[in-house]
Amino acid sequence: MNPATQSVASFIPPTPPLPEVGRDWKRFGRRLRGNILSTWPKEAYEEPVWRGQLLHRQVLLLNDPDAIHHVLVENVENYRRSPASIRILWPIVGKGLLLAEGGAWRHQRRTLAPAFAPRATPIICHHIVRQTQEVLPDLLQKEGIPVDLLAFFQQLTLEIAGRALFSLETHAFGTQLRSMMAYYGMALSRPSLLDLLFPIGIPSPRDILRWRFRKQWLGLIDRILDDRLALPKENAPRDLLDFMLAAKDPETGASFTRAMLRDELATLIVAGHETTAVALFWTLFLIAHLPEEQDKIFEEVRNIRFEPNKAAEILPILTRCRAVVSEALRLYPPAPVLVRQAIADDHAGRIAIAAGTLVFIAPWILHRHHRLWQNPNAFDPSRFFPTAPPAPRFAYLPFGAGPRVCIGAQFALAEATLVLGMLLQLFTIKRSSNEPVIPVSIVTMQPDHPPCFFLQPRLFAERTRAA
Ligand code: HEM
Repeated sequence: MNPATQSVASFIPPTPPLPEVGRDWKRFGRRLRGNILSTWPKEAYEEPVWRGQLLHRQVLLLNDPDAIHHVLVENVENYRRSPASIRILWPIVGKGLLLAEGGAWRHQRRTLAPAFAPRATPIICHHIVRQTQEVLPDLLQKEGIPVDLLAFFQQLTLEIAGRALFSLETHAFGTQLRSMMAYYGMALSRPSLLDLLFPIGIPSPRDILRWRFRKQWLGLIDRILDDRLALPKENAPRDLLDFMLAAKDPETGASFTRAMLRDELATLIVAGHETTAVALFWTLFLIAHLPEEQDKIFEEVRNIRFEPNKAAEILPILTRCRAVVSEALRLYPPAPVLVRQAIADDHAGRIAIAAGTLVFIAPWILHRHHRLWQNPNAFDPSRFFPTAPPAPRFAYLPFGAGPRVCIGAQFALAEATLVLGMLLQLFTIKRSSNEPVIPVSIVTMQPDHPPCFFLQPRLFAERTRAA
């Protein structure tokens, strides 16, 4: 069937091939370093728990919502980030919120909270709409020309992050930020065997390259911070940095030091922009196959005037856009796997978890699990309509859960929803070829190649006539 004519119910988005052998954990390490999404056999999508072995370490994949609740909420203190995650993420995010533990994490989470509280939403939405408005005219020039939407969203989300975080246009340093992050993602973020084997105190050969990268990376973040701090002060907060500069830990009264600000900003750029870029990419990828869905979104947005100062009021009206984004986050969660290591022996219900076990919670699998979802592989945004029953408890975790749930979840949802609405108001979208696109986990959920799309202007002629 031609993908352009598929109906919602019949559209099953492509997935990576499953491994041929059943409980084949021997090759787990190799696949882990290739595409972790191809690691899990069919049974992993059907059973509540999956046990295995990786380099003499117990590995556990949890698909049981109560067990997940236990690990992420009830006994969260017993589970820390895995040594491989720390090794890979530290050079780029330092001791910012993502990797901090214990008291340092609590201090940072409390101090950052006002920047992500509902009071900051109008500022965030303003920057999202303003920046998107600036780039839409470029897309209007692309009629009939194939567009790489992944690259487009990477640039847009970086620009939005730059504006929302520090009121700076990123064109002065955006190219360097992107090329450094792309280099890190491709060359240094996949774990080598030695990364997995060596204890955290012993550097692997790749660590030397990672540390060298960190020096240059911090130099760039410092320059951005200097540029922003040189801007004249304003009375009202204009961006998230203003919230962060004003913030004090409600318990200790301490504010962020310069070194902490630097790691925090690096964390927010890294954690915030690529995840949202791929969320938008997969959303557009899905609906590019579904013209009827595009028409329904268009009906929702056709009469809306997207103005930066009204953006926070518009957001709650966009229920269809929000449902489509939520369904895309289910099928293609940008953070496909969360990993923890057990500190002490534990029990999650009847599941025994020995100290040292690597616990995998994989939204990629959980969101497609046959016991938890009806017709799990089909794209069906009605699952997330306001009138639909809530998603099964602890079975839908695109932003994680518990105290370490994504601090930027509302930012990301606002961004993806508003950008989707603004794009679909102006364009219909089609793939430029039918070549299958397979998701690959490279820290975030990437396509195996960047496919191109045709964007056909919809309302532009009508709007310019009315203006
Ligand atoms: C669609 C976009 C996004 C997705 C899917 C996403 C997903 C996640 C997930 C799954 C976690 C939890 C990781 C774990 O428990 O191991 C997380 C944490 C985090 N996210 Fe996001 N994220 C997104 C956007 C953002 C944005 C826009 C920001 C900031 C501007 C952000 C900042 C963070 C930070 C700082 C953490 C660490 C929180 C902590 O440990 O206390 N994320 N994110």
